[in-house]
Amino acid sequence: MRQPLLLFALISIVIASSGCGKAYIAKGYQRGVTKDFTLSTSGQPTRSYSVHLPPNYSKDTQGGHPLVFSFHGATQTSKIQEDISDLSANGLEINNKSFVAVYPQGVNGIKGTSAWTGAPYANSNVDDVAFVLKMMSVLTSDLCIDEDRIYATGKSNGGGFANYLACTPSTASKLAAIATASAAIYTNHAFGPNNNCNPGRGFPIIDFHGTTDDTIKYDGGRSNNADYLSSDNFFNGWGKRDNCTNPNQQTLQDGAVTIRKWSGCKNTSLVRHFKINGMDHAWPRTTLPAKCNGKPGNNDCDKTVINANDYLLPFFSQFALSTTKWN
Ligand SMILES: *[C@@H]1O[C@H](CO)[C@@H](O)[C@H](O)[C@H]1NC(C)=O
Ligand SMILES: *[C@@H]1O[C@H](CO)[C@@H](O)[C@H](O)[C@H]1NC(C)=O
Ligand SMILES: *[C@@H]1O[C@H](CO)[C@@H](O)[C@H](O)[C@H]1NC(C)=O
Ligand SMILES: *[C@@H]1O[C@H](CO)[C@@H](O)[C@H](O)[C@H]1NC(C)=O
Repeated sequence: MRQPLLLFALISIVIASSGCGKAYIAKGYQRGVTKDFTLSTSGQPTRSYSVHLPPNYSKDTQGGHPLVFSFHGATQTSKIQEDISDLSANGLEINNKSFVAVYPQGVNGIKGTSAWTGAPYANSNVDDVAFVLKMMSVLTSDLCIDEDRIYATGKSNGGGFANYLACTPSTASKLAAIATASAAIYTNHAFGPNNNCNPGRGFPIIDFHGTTDDTIKYDGGRSNNADYLSSDNFFNGWGKRDNCTNPNQQTLQDGAVTIRKWSGCKNTSLVRHFKINGMDHAWPRTTLPAKCNGKPGNNDCDKTVINANDYLLPFFSQFALSTTKWN
C-alpha cells in the first residue's frame, strides 16, 4: 500500500516548480505585500511588474501555489490593474489554495501610452510574449508555484492580450485558462502570431462584458482605425474553436446578467460568457476600487451587480494543465 502514496508524492514534486523549498526573501518578495521587479532582455526595453504573495505563501506548499497574471488596459498601469481587478485581496483562492498575483506593466505603444500586443496601437518591436515567458520562468524558479495552474486575466487591451496569449502556442501550452473583462478584441490583431489563433487544444475562457460599454462596445465597432469584434462574435468564435456544443443560457440577478455556457468542448475545455446589463467599461465588481475615492462614475468606477472574481476563480479552479482529461 506504500506504492500509490509514493507515486502521488512523485507526481506532486514533478508538477510544482523548482522554486519550492527555496527561500524567497533574498529576492525581495514579501508575504502579504506587493513588490516591484524589473527584468532586462537584450534588444528589448527593461520591463517591470509587481508581484503579490498571499499572506500564507509558503515555499513548502504541497504542489505549489497557483499563479495569476492580471494585465491592465491601454494607457493604464499595473497599480491601477491591481486596484480594479482586486486579485491581491486576502482570502482569495484557486482550487483551495491562495495564489500569487502578478501585475505586469505594458510599455508605450505608437501613441506614446502603455499598450499590449494585440491592438493596432501596440509597438510591434516590443516582444510582450517573450516578456510573459521570461516572467513565468523567473517566478517559477524563485517561488513555489504550481506550474499546472498558471492563468492570465486582463481588462480591455489587457483582455485582448490575454486572448493573444491563449492563441499563441508557446504561452497557450503554459496557461491553464484565461479570463477577459471588457476586452478589446481587435479582429486583425488579437489572435496571436499571423492572427490565426492556435491554442493547440480546447482552451478554457471566461469572458465578461457590459451592454453599455462606450469604449469597447458590446456589439463591436471601430477604434484606432481598426475593427474590434462584438462580444457575440468573440465568444462564439471560442465555442467553435473549442468545438463545443451549443450554449445553454442562464440568468442571474433578475435578468441583469446573462450567462452563456458551452460544454462538450475539446479536451474538456469550457467557454463562459457573462453579459452584464448596464455595465460600462469596467472590471465587474459590486464595490468601488480605491482609485474612485468613493465616487461612482464611468468606466472602472461603475459598480455592477456581480463580482467577476466570484466566477473567474471557481472557473480557473476547474482547470489544471496536466490533470485535464484531453478527450
Ligand atoms: C475545497 O475545500 C472544500 C471545503 O473544505 C471542499 O469541500 C472541496 O472539495 C475542496 N475543493 C477542492 C477542489 O479541493
Ligand atoms: C491559505 O489561505 C487560504 C485562504 O485564506 C486557504 O484556503 C489556504 O488553504 C491556505 N493555505 C494555502 C497553502 O494556500
Ligand atoms: C468536434 O465535434 C464533433 C461533433 O460533436 C465531433 O464529431 C468531433 O469529433 C469533434 N472534434 C474534435 C477535434 O474534438
Ligand atoms: C486534445 O484532444 C485531442 C483529441 O481530440 C488530442 O489529440 C490532443 O492530444 C489533446 N491535447 C492535449 C494538449 O493533450
